[in-house]
Amino acid sequence: MKALILSGGTGTRLRPVTFTNAKQLLPLANKPILFHIIEKVAKTGINKIGIIVGDTSEEVMRTVGNGDRWNVDISYIHQPLPLGLAHAVKTARDFIEDEDFIMLLGDNAFNVSLDSLIRNFRTNNADSTIMLYQVEDPSHYGVAVVEKNHITKLVEKPKNFISDLIITGVYIFNKNIFKAIDNTSPSSRGELEITDAIQELLSTGGNVTFEILQGWWKDTGKLQDILDANRMILDEIDTYNQVLSKDNAVYMGKLLISKSACIKNSIIAGPAAIDEDAVILDSYVGPYSSIGKGVVINNCEVDNCIILENARLEGIDKRISGSLIGKNVSIRSAGKRPYSNSFLLGDCSELYL
Ligand code: TTP
Repeated sequence: MKALILSGGTGTRLRPVTFTNAKQLLPLANKPILFHIIEKVAKTGINKIGIIVGDTSEEVMRTVGNGDRWNVDISYIHQPLPLGLAHAVKTARDFIEDEDFIMLLGDNAFNVSLDSLIRNFRTNNADSTIMLYQVEDPSHYGVAVVEKNHITKLVEKPKNFISDLIITGVYIFNKNIFKAIDNTSPSSRGELEITDAIQELLSTGGNVTFEILQGWWKDTGKLQDILDANRMILDEIDTYNQVLSKDNAVYMGKLLISKSACIKNSIIAGPAAIDEDAVILDSYVGPYSSIGKGVVINNCEVDNCIILENARLEGIDKRISGSLIGKNVSIRSAGKRPYSNSFLLGDCSELYL
């Protein structure tokens, strides 16, 4: 079995951060989402991984490399335009050859192993096995109707409620999916939908089985969702900081702190992750914060945030919370009269003052 990870797309919903960063490389607990996924694939023993790339191909290839660090072999497949998940699969035809493959969306985070899904696919001799997840509001997702333990129907974003089991971004297919995609037409949003292709497989007598995911799963495509995924990953940290008190710093809870971080006269309350060369002075870093490489936090309070490399936060008098802050962003107190707000903001920035 091979693996196919989709890392193309446009990431519109996370602009402006995705103007300059691949969505799949945004960090959860300071590790790119894509790395969390590759680790899960590598654990199954699958060692041939294809990654679909689009506009951000250079950044993805440079950051992920050839797979050596996970002992897997990674190839890149260029999708000229993001024309849908099924289109991405079609683009990978030569890489997949006639093998079975597991497909994962490069912007999804979840905490379950893939082994049981693979077992389900093999023991049922399935054409496809999909991971479902029960949610309260399924209206934004593809959903599966399950009757007597069998999938009877799959619908992409149904207008009226038909099921609360959404199709997550984890699927296994055999080569029959390619024929099903060939018989699928683009949806009203102009994309070749994988949900429609699996429905086609089902309608033509294909054996589509499922598992209901028992842990947690998040599509990180929007701000609130990426913060939620960051929280869930940070909750799974199992290291407590060994430094009890140094440089007048107080540490509490589960923490992942790089040895090269410099923390003085501050309170760090986990779960939190602080990356290399970060500097935290006279500040409070609260639960669910991921502080990236070289970030400076001086005289501020921060919690529930993802802060990317080399951002600087200095002298802000309100707590900064629920935020995703891009690389090299600088937020500082003007500190002198007139006490006005002053901004240099890129396109599509969002501020809540
Ligand atoms: P989406 O989140 O559905 O799409 P997107 O990344 O374009 O984001 P937005 O809707 O905010 O503009 O994509 C899910 C994953 O699949 C993501 O990792 C990108 C990838 N993808 C492709 O590789 N090719 C495609 O054609 C599409 C639509 C998505």
